[in-house]
Amino acid sequence: MAILEATDIIKQYRGPDGVVTAVNRASMKVEEGEFVAITGESGSGKSTLINICAGIDVANAGSVMLGGKMISSMHGDALTKYRGKTVGFVFQSHKLIPYLTAYENIILPLNAGELLREKHEERFNLLVDALGIRNRLSHLPSEMSGGQQQRVAIARALIHYPRILFADEPTGNLDRRNADEVISLMIELKNTLKQTMVVVTHDQKTAERADRVFVMNDGFLREVK
Ligand SMILES: Nc1ncnc2c1ncn2[C@@H]1O[C@H](COP(=O)(O)OP(=O)(O)O)[C@@H](O)[C@H]1O
Ligand SMILES: [Mg+2]
Repeated sequence: MAILEATDIIKQYRGPDGVVTAVNRASMKVEEGEFVAITGESGSGKSTLINICAGIDVANAGSVMLGGKMISSMHGDALTKYRGKTVGFVFQSHKLIPYLTAYENIILPLNAGELLREKHEERFNLLVDALGIRNRLSHLPSEMSGGQQQRVAIARALIHYPRILFADEPTGNLDRRNADEVISLMIELKNTLKQTMVVVTHDQKTAERADRVFVMNDGFLREVK
């Protein structure tokens, strides 16, 4: 069974000039272990779509099946809890907590004390080494470069073994060199952890390295690779 199956998603906003259809009957299926890229112009509906797929936003119509559950009919605490354990999310701006160190940011998704458990300690070490941030663990976000901050954000998004990682333009704020590095690290993690990833990107190089590519155009989603 697909890990993610979004069917006929519609999302509309009511603005001053009438209704904007941000996502127009978009359907997308992601199999376990795939690295899927979504590209498309700014304002085409990419963020809206993946937010809906991740259970962060709610569609006006359509259904989202995530990890075997119909999250589009889940609400409140049940949805929050299920999303928390199933989904990892990386944003364009890293959204790290400014007054916490890298270490504290990374373990944030774990419940207090969980790191003491062996499986989490192993996971922590694996991610920190794979992402090359071991010597940054005691630093605050403001003491790290953009690329380092984003690598910490990726570790935080993966620490709790999410079944699927969503990333919304994770390299959008980085220069070419750092962007390439972060994408290479993500693809490496995809391969070593068999981590399913859905990545929104403007970056042609990232799309080229994806298993499958979708293009979003004015709310319409189309598979191109
Ligand atoms: N909260 C919102 N309220 C009103 N309009 C929105 C909101 N979020 C997104 N939109 C509109 O929906 C469209 C798609 O936006 P978005 O999903 O952010 O596109 P992208 O991520 O591809 O840049 C845009 O026209 C945007 O202005
Ligand atoms: Mg966006």
